[in-house]
Amino acid sequence: MSKFIDDHQKLEIKPRHMDFPFGSLKKVKFFDNNIYKSAFMVGMSAGFPVGEGEFLASVRNYRDQVTSPNLKKQVKGFIGQEGHHSHQHIKINEELDRLGYNTKKIDRSFRKTNEKYIVPRSNKFRLAHTVCYEHLTGIMGEFALDQPKLLEGMEDPFKDLMLWHCVEEVEHKSVAYDVYMETVGDLKYLHRVMMLTITLLSFRLTKYMFSMAFTSKNWASLKDLSGFISWMFGKGGMWRSLRKPFMEFFKEGFHPWADGGLEFIEKWERELARPEQNKSTKEYRLANPS
Ligand SMILES: [Fe+2]
Ligand SMILES: [Fe+2]
Repeated sequence: MSKFIDDHQKLEIKPRHMDFPFGSLKKVKFFDNNIYKSAFMVGMSAGFPVGEGEFLASVRNYRDQVTSPNLKKQVKGFIGQEGHHSHQHIKINEELDRLGYNTKKIDRSFRKTNEKYIVPRSNKFRLAHTVCYEHLTGIMGEFALDQPKLLEGMEDPFKDLMLWHCVEEVEHKSVAYDVYMETVGDLKYLHRVMMLTITLLSFRLTKYMFSMAFTSKNWASLKDLSGFISWMFGKGGMWRSLRKPFMEFFKEGFHPWADGGLEFIEKWERELARPEQNKSTKEYRLANPS
C-alpha cells in the first residue's frame, strides 16, 4: 500500500466554521472582469446546495454498514464538512443574486432533476455517483490550491470561499470511495458511472454558465467568451490540466490518496488561510468581540 494511503488514515476530518464577508462582493463580473468566468463560478456555486445534499444522503445510506472505526469517524467529518459547504454557498448565492444573477433558478431546476433522476435510483448508483463527484471535486481542489493563478483576479470573498471549499474537498476526497470499496466494491460499475457523471456534469456546467451570463444581462462580450475558453481549455487551463488526474481513476490500484495530497492542505494552512475568517481562532474573536 502507498505510504500516502497510510498517512491519510491519520488525517482528522473536521469542519471549519467560517465567516466570510460576502456582503463586500462588488461587481457582477467579480472574476477577472470576465462575465463568463464569473458566470461559470456562479453556476457551480448555485448547484452546490442540492449536489452536496445528495452526496450526504447517498453516503448516509451506507453509514451503518461501515465497520472500520477510522472510516466511521471520517464519514462523520465528511458529513459535517459538506453540510457546512452548502450553508456557505446558500449565503453567497444570495449575494450573487443581489449582483444580478438568478441562482434560485438553477437551484430549482437542479432540485427537480435530482429528485426525478437520481434519488429514485438504487443506493448503489447514488453512492457510486457521489464517489465520482468526490473524485472530480478532489482533483479540482488540488489543482486550485497548487496553481493560484487559476483564481487570479477573483474578488476576495469568493476566492476565500473557494479555497476553503477546495482544501476540505481534498481532506475528505477518499471518504465516499472508501465507503464504496468497503460496502459495494464493484469497480467496473463505478467506472461506468464515472463516464456518465463527467458527461452530465460538463453539459450542466456549460448550460448553467450561459444561463447565468444571460440573466446578468452582460453576456454580449466575445472578448470575455474567448478569455473563458483560454482559461478553461488553453495551456495550463483547468480542462487540460485535469485530464491526467481524471484518468487515474480508471487505473488498476487507484486510490484517491495514492499520489498524496496532504501537501495541498499544508499549503493552504501556511499561505492561503485567513484565520480571522475561522470562528474557532483567536484572530476571529479579536476581530469580532461580542
Ligand atoms: Fe463540498
Ligand atoms: Fe466533497
